Amino acid sequence: MNLADLAAHVAAQFQSHYGRPPRWIVAAPGRVNVIGEHTDYNDGFVLPMAIERYAVMAADNAATLGVISIYDTQFKETAEVDISQPVTKGQPKWSNYLRGVIAGFQQHGLAVPALDVAMISTVPLGGGLSSSAALEVCTATLLEAATGKMLDPVEKALLAQKAEHEFAGVPCGIMDQFISALGREGHLLLLDCRTRKTELVPMSDPAVALLIVNTNVKHELGSGEYAKRRAECESAAHTLGVTSLRDATAGQLEANQGRLDAVAFRRARHVIGEIERTVHAAAGIRASNWTGVGQLMHASHASLRDDYEVSCKELDAVVEIAESIGLAGGVYGCRMTGGGFGGCAVALVKADHVAAITEKIASVYHVKTGIEATIFSSRPAAGATIIKAD
Ligand code: GLA
Repeated sequence: MNLADLAAHVAAQFQSHYGRPPRWIVAAPGRVNVIGEHTDYNDGFVLPMAIERYAVMAADNAATLGVISIYDTQFKETAEVDISQPVTKGQPKWSNYLRGVIAGFQQHGLAVPALDVAMISTVPLGGGLSSSAALEVCTATLLEAATGKMLDPVEKALLAQKAEHEFAGVPCGIMDQFISALGREGHLLLLDCRTRKTELVPMSDPAVALLIVNTNVKHELGSGEYAKRRAECESAAHTLGVTSLRDATAGQLEANQGRLDAVAFRRARHVIGEIERTVHAAAGIRASNWTGVGQLMHASHASLRDDYEVSCKELDAVVEIAESIGLAGGVYGCRMTGGGFGGCAVALVKADHVAAITEKIASVYHVKTGIEATIFSSRPAAGATIIKAD
């Protein structure tokens, strides 16, 4: 469903659930990261784009004071958030993404109004496409519309990231919330996670497409591996005598190999190499050097698989199939995307080969793993938007 249809759908759901039309409709997209994985919390570069999959909310002021009711139109479940006091974690579990953002607005001293909300999301859950960031940024956008107080987009992304840290327990970097808040149609976003400066990288060549391959193996970042990687990086930076791995060079790492244990050395090698690959990939995209970008994507995957150890056999299977199709079959490059341990891979392909590549990856993946993959392509979409306001 495109965004206009989704907005109409959620408005109709709001109407039938609450018996009146919504006053506001807002949306925030998921994302795919083209390259720059596990670099954001190391002060490095990332190169994500917003995708045409969204969290969408329709809302109106509520009759019951002190409560925000959120009706999930897919799971037919309602969460009630008591806003008469500082919002805390609660049930159902998914409501914590929204609770964290509401709490963030309260901490900013903003008077959050009582609301009736209906929501839907087309970002696959646990698929590594930032379904949680989409929900958080969507909630922040709704509260902007309802309070009339527009946050600075960087401040908004940071507020959403804080919600993820404190209410979902994932010590994530800033990439997901940034791209969901700041994405631009037709562009990737090169984000310097240290300075938080962003650069738009146009990606509208109709000859190429990005294919997103969902392994349909759920990833669970709260499980501890993500936090472990983050701690390993911090300790490697400490041993190398730098503030973060952004400040370390490959030469410095080699020279200090003896001072790091083997795992820390490999983790740092991934991060240092990936930051460099990301900057090169942005330049490659600007120059339409698709072969070069594809090679960087392959190298990124190998490094995430071998040095950073965040891939899994299903993601490796997708990348191997894509590699075997190769340039002759229209594939420039393919890599896992997002936190890892399941979720999605992203492939840069020739646009006129999309159907054949989709078919091939789906059938071989099924034979190899017994799992049906979900495959779709997306153009770079716009970030969070207020679709309807009074
Ligand atoms: C998750 C986190 C991001 C980032 C990626 C890995 O998506 O939320 O901040 O660290 O993993 O690149």
